[in-house]
Amino acid sequence: MRKTILITGGAGFIGSHLVRRLVKQYSQYHIVNLDVLNYAGNLQNLVEVESFDNYTFVKGDITDLPFIRSLFEKYNFDHVIHLAAESHVDRSIKDPLIFIKTNVLGTATLLQVAKESWDNDYDGKLFYHVSTDEVYGSLALDQGIFTESTPYDPKSPYSASKASSDHLVRAWAHTYGMPIVISNCSNNYGPFQFPEKLIPLFINNIIHRRNLPVYGQGLNVRDWLYVEDHASAIDLILHKGIQGETYNIGGHNEWSNIKLIELMCDMTDEKLERPVGSSRNLICFVEDRAGHDLRYAIDASKIEKDLGWKPSLQFEEGLSKTIDWYLMNTDWLDQVTSGEYLEYYDKMYT
Ligand code: NAD
Ligand code: TYD
Repeated sequence: MRKTILITGGAGFIGSHLVRRLVKQYSQYHIVNLDVLNYAGNLQNLVEVESFDNYTFVKGDITDLPFIRSLFEKYNFDHVIHLAAESHVDRSIKDPLIFIKTNVLGTATLLQVAKESWDNDYDGKLFYHVSTDEVYGSLALDQGIFTESTPYDPKSPYSASKASSDHLVRAWAHTYGMPIVISNCSNNYGPFQFPEKLIPLFINNIIHRRNLPVYGQGLNVRDWLYVEDHASAIDLILHKGIQGETYNIGGHNEWSNIKLIELMCDMTDEKLERPVGSSRNLICFVEDRAGHDLRYAIDASKIEKDLGWKPSLQFEEGLSKTIDWYLMNTDWLDQVTSGEYLEYYDKMYT
């Protein structure tokens, strides 16, 4: 019998890459994509698979208990891959409560309904929780890297809400025997990322010759991974991961913000046939983010050694592909920044 897999947040950035990958590669699975279509959720990200007969989209909220119950009753899911979340740190600083509602209550709701639905018969079942390396806190510049046993020390409302959700998943495993797996990934970049996160925001601003607001001195360090490499890691963990385990995912690819921004400026200048270096004039240093984590860096040796995963792209190659995609898809950028698509889908799905 074919497996039915619930993917939450599949209309967002990472979720849409994962949905496209699983729908196309596994015709034996029925993929049900549940997404509330907030500002970051966009069905245009999924046009490529919308007519596949092993794919179904459902608009709905993971915090809506009766609705989630009815969904599990209807589809009888074998696996849940949970990505739905509020995902942007700046928004979590301005408006933390929606992060607690979605990321904490939403995760607990899914866990509880999965437990009720599976009713202690966990054979062939899996609750896969997609999380972030930000749960581990912040590293000093010379402080080593996050491993799976680094103690949790989240510092922003976003990372604290994700840490809470990780704890809930482990609590359901420990208390009720729920078969779970968790992965904690470093910063992703690539096509279809909402242009509020650093890389797409700055590419869009370079295209429009707008200022590039660098927080603080630009010395914070992030460890970047191409989004399709994250999707390939999730696919591998889904099929080969050991239940109850945690896997860190990352590309051993640390960049200070300022070095990365300079590289983005120069690459984009070259592609737009502007004098290389001219977009660096758009860089301006602005007030630092409150509580800005200094450095994230991930040790991905466990997934490499145990499951044989490794990233497929070198960073310069991935960044070049990403800039090309945004330059080719300025309509997408214009639509998601204008909010037009939200009005369109509100009409279609509400
Ligand atoms: P995103 O903001 O692009 O997408 C999140 C999706 O969740 C959106 O489509 C949104 O509509 C949906 N959603 C939000 N609230 C919902 C609700 N109440 N019910 C149903 N759907 C809801 O985020 P992303 O960058 O794709 O991140 C996906 C997941 O991966 C998140 O759990 C995030 O914490 C995790 N993660 C992200 C990164 C990164 O660099 N972006 C790195 C590691 C882990
Ligand atoms: P972001 O993409 O928001 O990811 P995260 O905060 O989850 O790591 O930001 C990446 C880095 O870029 C982070 O150190 C904050 C910095 N940043 C800026 O300097 N300016 C900006 O406008 C944004 C959005 C981020």
